[in-house]
Amino acid sequence: MEVCRLLLFLAVCGVGWSEGRYEPNWESLDSRPLPPWYDEAKVGIFLHWGVFSVPSFGSEWFWEHWQGSKSQKYVDFMKKNYPPNFSYQDFGPQFTAEFYDPKEWAELFNASGARYIVLTTKHHEGFTLWPSRHSWGWNSLDVGPKRDLLGELVYAIRSTTPHIHCGKTLPELYELVNNYQPDVIWSDGDWEAFDKYWNATHFLAWLFNDSPVNETVVVNDRWGRGIPCHHGSFYTCADNYNPGILQPHKWENCLPVDRYSWGFRREAKLADLHTIHELLTQLAMTISCGGNILINVGPTRDGRIAPIMEERLRQMGSWLAINGEAIYGSRPWSHQNDTLTPGVWFTSKDDIVFAIVLSWPKENVLALGSVKDTPQTNISLLGYTATPYTLHVGFHPTSQGIKVMFPSMADVKGQWAWVLAMKNVLPGPNAPVPQTTMTTPIASP
Ligand SMILES: *[C@@H]1O[C@H](CO)[C@@H](O)[C@H](O)[C@H]1NC(C)=O
Ligand SMILES: *[C@@H]1O[C@H](CO)[C@@H](O)[C@H](O)[C@H]1NC(C)=O
Ligand SMILES: *[C@@H]1O[C@H](CO)[C@@H](O)[C@H](O)[C@H]1NC(C)=O
Ligand SMILES: *[C@@H]1O[C@H](CO)[C@@H](O)[C@H](O)[C@H]1NC(C)=O
Ligand SMILES: *[C@@H]1O[C@H](CO)[C@@H](O)[C@H](O)[C@H]1NC(C)=O
Ligand SMILES: *[C@@H]1O[C@H](CO)[C@@H](O)[C@H](O)[C@H]1NC(C)=O
Repeated sequence: MEVCRLLLFLAVCGVGWSEGRYEPNWESLDSRPLPPWYDEAKVGIFLHWGVFSVPSFGSEWFWEHWQGSKSQKYVDFMKKNYPPNFSYQDFGPQFTAEFYDPKEWAELFNASGARYIVLTTKHHEGFTLWPSRHSWGWNSLDVGPKRDLLGELVYAIRSTTPHIHCGKTLPELYELVNNYQPDVIWSDGDWEAFDKYWNATHFLAWLFNDSPVNETVVVNDRWGRGIPCHHGSFYTCADNYNPGILQPHKWENCLPVDRYSWGFRREAKLADLHTIHELLTQLAMTISCGGNILINVGPTRDGRIAPIMEERLRQMGSWLAINGEAIYGSRPWSHQNDTLTPGVWFTSKDDIVFAIVLSWPKENVLALGSVKDTPQTNISLLGYTATPYTLHVGFHPTSQGIKVMFPSMADVKGQWAWVLAMKNVLPGPNAPVPQTTMTTPIASP
């Protein structure tokens, strides 16, 4: 089925497609339709784990900051806490992962509501989380845990929560794809070289034509200088990319729970971490504007996901368990955020328009300027039920749109943000003009 639809679409379009194969150039590669699972999944988890999780200080760029740019903070940290001549490689054996239980992780990721997992299989320090033939003596089977950390996670996810897709980051890509069959390839480090140097287009042509994941795989956009925000199945543009307006191409907002580091950082303060309300705000904005969200946590050197990170993930999952209808498989609507009340973001599915309301309205009345009712309109609030019935909430038209009467908060399940499901409504006036080019990312600090 999938194959037929794909082939038909391509045959009709015929752009850059020769004898049924993608060619190693961006025009041809960009003509491949996005495998539908990715847009439907909406929510993923990003994991930064590696030898940098041993010092777990500063950021996952520890090595570079310490011995590359010789940043004072890192030099002092080493002087104070480690013997002289201690090398970065000496951290390797301390990456022990003795509490690593991939089944437990799979259960947590499932409970978070995420539909795909991207694990950094090799960060810039070069250490691989699987026994790579290209990284002799500097991988998780030879040094540290003495385990195939990646393989065990892939196995745990595929055997207990098979609806979750697995993804990987960067090199030794052919080996990774053949051994672990990821559905996401998340490349990074593009600022170091042009795509010609990486031979990215040849790899991608193989990936899309002949690899074992040719039908399902999606790739990001960090394949060389000038490529991000221009080529790839989905665009990441910049870390924490969240333009706040509808984008013309599928994109992804990747953001760490710890706003200062992707890797685990022992010195992080509670205030450094995003609250669940901040994460749900990012989620609502991102999905409304056509993106996916990839939320990052950094596991510890001994293989745990810190309880505070676990709590954030489980909170997100408890919210999605009630409100997921507005997220998974949804499409952007004609309006993204409300013109009258700030903090209201829309998505849609078939004849339903969802409004994600980020704070409970004053006196239980929400004024919407972007929505007009019709004689057939009815509105319900997800989590407001008299089991097994969904209860409807009252509303009335106003000169500017509609007013929706929320019930008493005590009668509604869930917290942090609420979702209205509105049937048979129309967009209010002043629908925004669709974007035709990607919004320029703001340079991240
Ligand atoms: C540490 O390194 C210095 C300079 O490279 C060397 O002279 C010294 O012998 C080393 N000390 C030890 C204990 O290896
Ligand atoms: C995965 O999550 C769903 C929804 O929360 C739940 O029903 C299911 O039991 C979970 N499965 C596992 C294996 O944890
Ligand atoms: C790129 O990959 C293709 C196919 O594997 C190969 O023929 C070509 O020589 C490679 N180019 C470079 C510069 O490595
Ligand atoms: C994917 O690979 C399979 C098996 O090699 C092939 O039959 C199919 O046509 C390929 N699909 C695409 C879209 O290239
Ligand atoms: C939301 O919509 C209003 C227009 O009604 C706009 O001014 C505002 O910048 C939008 N974006 C955000 C992030 O609130
Ligand atoms: C929605 O409203 C219409 C018109 O008022 C009504 O016919 C229909 O039964 C309502 N649907 C539900 C599920 O209550």
